[in-house]
Amino acid sequence: MPLASKEIVAPDVFWVGSIDWSVRVFHGYHTDEGTSYNAYLLMDEDVTLIDTVKQSFSQELIERITQVTSLDSVKYVIMNHAENDHSGALPYVMTLLKNATIVTNKICMEHLLLLYPELNLYPFKIVNNSTPLVLKSHTIQFLQVPMLHWPDSMFSYCPDINTLFSNDGFGQHIACSERFIDQVPLQDHVLRQMREYTANILGPCQVPLQTALDNAGSLQIDTILTAHGVSWRDSSIQLALNEYSLFAQNKQLKKKMSIFFHSIRGTVKRTAELIAQASPIQVSMHDLTIDDLTKCALSAYDSEYIAFGSPTIYSQVTPLVEATLQYLLGLHLFKNRKVILFGAFSWVDKAVQDMKRLISNGGGTVISEISFKMQINERVKDQITEDFKHIF
Ligand code: FEO
Repeated sequence: MPLASKEIVAPDVFWVGSIDWSVRVFHGYHTDEGTSYNAYLLMDEDVTLIDTVKQSFSQELIERITQVTSLDSVKYVIMNHAENDHSGALPYVMTLLKNATIVTNKICMEHLLLLYPELNLYPFKIVNNSTPLVLKSHTIQFLQVPMLHWPDSMFSYCPDINTLFSNDGFGQHIACSERFIDQVPLQDHVLRQMREYTANILGPCQVPLQTALDNAGSLQIDTILTAHGVSWRDSSIQLALNEYSLFAQNKQLKKKMSIFFHSIRGTVKRTAELIAQASPIQVSMHDLTIDDLTKCALSAYDSEYIAFGSPTIYSQVTPLVEATLQYLLGLHLFKNRKVILFGAFSWVDKAVQDMKRLISNGGGTVISEISFKMQINERVKDQITEDFKHIF
């Protein structure tokens, strides 16, 4: 496919990334709308490439660079993060960029050399928050943002053009022809995709995120160039900053209940429906045999209340419920939530206790436990009514 003509996305900056229209699974996260691997070329006498792309798009990256400049003119390759979707092309690219030095932080260099030992052949320049990269006409400053998304993650900031290169930060998994949110028709959809990305990728990074936002808050930013999906400029920047600020402070939580259940004989499903009917707040219902983990994480992301239901099978919670609990726990999605557990059993009353044990270190508070033998009865209905009188 011929490449689109070269695209300027900020003063002196060309987009040289790739659009992955087909990817549907991204380390377990279902990317229904594909994604992009955005890389950028900063034109200076010292031409600088900022991030690369997934390995399978290596040649496309090279072709886009050569549309803008000669490969020999590239002096630096800044790596903001070592994960393969941004670094996969690096070994190939470095064989062609004869005059380039890799610029990154110490942890990222260690990760890159573990992932690609052949990079040992090339020069590295180690930077950190207090060591900018000085080019002929621009300066690049660095902001370490550990765990956004790996310990090696950092932002690059060019004060000469008020542009932040945020790598995974502020990204979304969307494949589209547009580069900025103001070019797409449905901005709310982009924000939703950013929340899904945050819920499924960045859950454990709330504390470092606040530090990153505090540091970024002192910068003059006209453009945020992300490594995934669309980027942000002018007034839309505040939208992105507000979303992350709410998340960093756990203020994204709403008076909303996400109900997750796995029902084998129908009684757990019926209990989920009774809980939904009794709830005075908005409910989002997820049958785990239908809804995937990605959608479950998005639902839990802004829910103050989480309800989980499972039957006891083989003297334990069902594997489907356990897997979902573990996924949400890993993403810190029980933190500060109020949790309702419900379960049915035939002869061993175990599911609710198993769920309680599994989430015991997840930062949530169990506020109701509902368990019954064989069939829902009036006692169960009364308990839901009574418990909810106290909860709401
Ligand atoms: Fe987009 Fe953490 O890689």
